Amino acid sequence: SAAEKDGHDWFMRKEIFEQPRAVADSLLGRRTAEGHLQLDEMRLSDQELRDVDKIIIIACGTSFYAGLVAKYAIEHWCRIPVEVELASEFRYRDPILDYSTLVVAISQSGETADTLQAIRHARAQKSKVLAICNTNGSTIPRESDAVIYTHAGPEIGVASTKGFLTQLVACYLLALYLAQVKGTRFGDEISQVVRQLEAMPSHIESVLASADDVYALAREHVGTRSVLFLGRHAGYPVALEGALKLKELAYLHAEGFAAGELKHGPIALVEQGLPVLCVVPPAGRDQLRDKMVSGIQEVRARGARTICLVEEGDDAITPYADVVLRLPKVPVLLQPLVAVVPLQLFACELATVMGHDVDQPRNLAKSVTVE
Ligand code: G6P
Repeated sequence: SAAEKDGHDWFMRKEIFEQPRAVADSLLGRRTAEGHLQLDEMRLSDQELRDVDKIIIIACGTSFYAGLVAKYAIEHWCRIPVEVELASEFRYRDPILDYSTLVVAISQSGETADTLQAIRHARAQKSKVLAICNTNGSTIPRESDAVIYTHAGPEIGVASTKGFLTQLVACYLLALYLAQVKGTRFGDEISQVVRQLEAMPSHIESVLASADDVYALAREHVGTRSVLFLGRHAGYPVALEGALKLKELAYLHAEGFAAGELKHGPIALVEQGLPVLCVVPPAGRDQLRDKMVSGIQEVRARGARTICLVEEGDDAITPYADVVLRLPKVPVLLQPLVAVVPLQLFACELATVMGHDVDQPRNLAKSVTVE
């Protein structure tokens, strides 16, 4: 009923709007009075964590994209090498695992069969397994050595939204906690990032406040056959997730690419009027933003309709953007928390106007319990 959905037409839309609270809840109680990060459910000792010399993240679907973001954060803050792998591929390549490998399994439901089989395999090789999970007492955390619970509340829409944002939060917390334990970052820097995380719910709120602009844009895309998504760095997984959402909900051909790969193939797909959604990194670091701008110029010169997610105050892109959607100013590693939200709204609205069942897309299941 509409009441269960807080007046929204779909659980998914309700869950998108619950994201500021879900993120805030997932951050609650993680900081001591002295400003140290604490993870209560972390059953691995500091010594066990200090012994970790490699991390392998395994997951499926949207959770896999949270893992891709986690790689950027963990490697940057902790200097531990991270691999991210689809759970369904992991076991079959005979991965190199031992007691100093930490396997991180990300699963909203805690019941995904591929992920479960992967952690069983990892534990049989003596690796420690840490689960990031939204469902208390589900199988994956029960079979893991440690768990970080996300506090998204029940997610009903088949396509994950608040589950994803809270997984990102858990990944950032894990990365910062490892940095604290390993001493790769100073306390001041860690508490600064924690404060930046605590500001994210209000930033997400401000993105949601412009939902109507995104809806209007989505309605212009009824009849579109294909959409490309471009991103770099932490924006690359956001591009992949934006494309997945369109496939899941609007049954559209959609592909996410690393913007730097354009000239190695994807640019051949560009033709007159093709919508290309571009996640522009914040200005300032490693010329990431400038490189993205030149990618946008290249696709536009070939006729693409460029729709750019850009932080407030950044006008370098305006000459090459057919549509600009503004994002709050946040650090590059945290940008996925705000950048994915317009893409969720876009897919939800486009699917709605196309007459699809947004909460239960055809052929998909909320939790996939067969391999
Ligand atoms: C299904 C859902 C996706 C989800 C994936 C992984 O395919 O439709 O939304 O991302 O499973 O689920 P998990 O519960 O393991 O995160």
